Amino acid sequence: MHKLEAQINTAVNYLRGFNYHQARVGIVLGTGLGQLTHHIQIEKSIPYNEIPHFPLSTVESHKGQLIYGKIGDTPVIAMQGRFHYYEGYTMQEITFPVRVMKALGIQQLLLSNAAGGMNPAFKKGDMVLLDDHINLQPENPLRGLNSSFFGTRFPDMSQPYDKHLGNLLQTSAAEKGLTLHTGVYVSVMGPNLETRAEYRFLRLIGADMVGMSTVPEVIVANQLQLPCAAISVITDECDPDNLKAVSLEEIIAVAGTADKKLSELFVSVIKNL
Ligand code: HPA
Repeated sequence: MHKLEAQINTAVNYLRGFNYHQARVGIVLGTGLGQLTHHIQIEKSIPYNEIPHFPLSTVESHKGQLIYGKIGDTPVIAMQGRFHYYEGYTMQEITFPVRVMKALGIQQLLLSNAAGGMNPAFKKGDMVLLDDHINLQPENPLRGLNSSFFGTRFPDMSQPYDKHLGNLLQTSAAEKGLTLHTGVYVSVMGPNLETRAEYRFLRLIGADMVGMSTVPEVIVANQLQLPCAAISVITDECDPDNLKAVSLEEIIAVAGTADKKLSELFVSVIKNL
């Protein structure tokens, strides 16, 4: 047995002891985007460091706990805080929780992230549904996982984000009077932000927003044939001809202003599933 398979089983067995296997939807909350937890009737919340084989979150803006509870009648697992490659983890460590949630029985995965907006139509605080992505991160979470336990060896990526979930998000946004753009997300390693020349390059290759997360989880979700959808909150406007300095504090503050509408959108979609 692959070491990772045994680790997944251990984490799953631990979490089953707290009923996490009843969850049907998994949620990954991005930087500065934690308000959704206020909409969950929380039944259990476990710090990552207590779950066998979970990596430890090192970013202060992330709380680092795995929540089990209900949104309406739907049992969910929410990751309050995710893992990033720039923190030093391997891609397999970053995506470990997705494999565990899938093994517990989730049938859909919703992700959020904070991202820089390169499409000039996107403004700070806007929400963008990922239609596709470009992976510019090093390493790959599937590398070396050759057994069928982990899913298909060469996952198809012609439609990495589930159409049905995307349509539901668009419908819910329209119902709530919220603007939801669509766009292509490019993932970079970070943790530095981009230079003007890099933003110009990323725009040129077809990306609308840029960030340091999400793509590893989505690759694994596709390997597991777990339907997923992701939304970026635009935290800074990346116009190479008019670029302003930006700090992590500002990024978190802007994410905070959009957190309420993002949370409402996720809640409404989950209630409509
Ligand atoms: N670049 C990369 N990641 C980001 C950005 C950015 O401009 N903004 C928020 N996350």
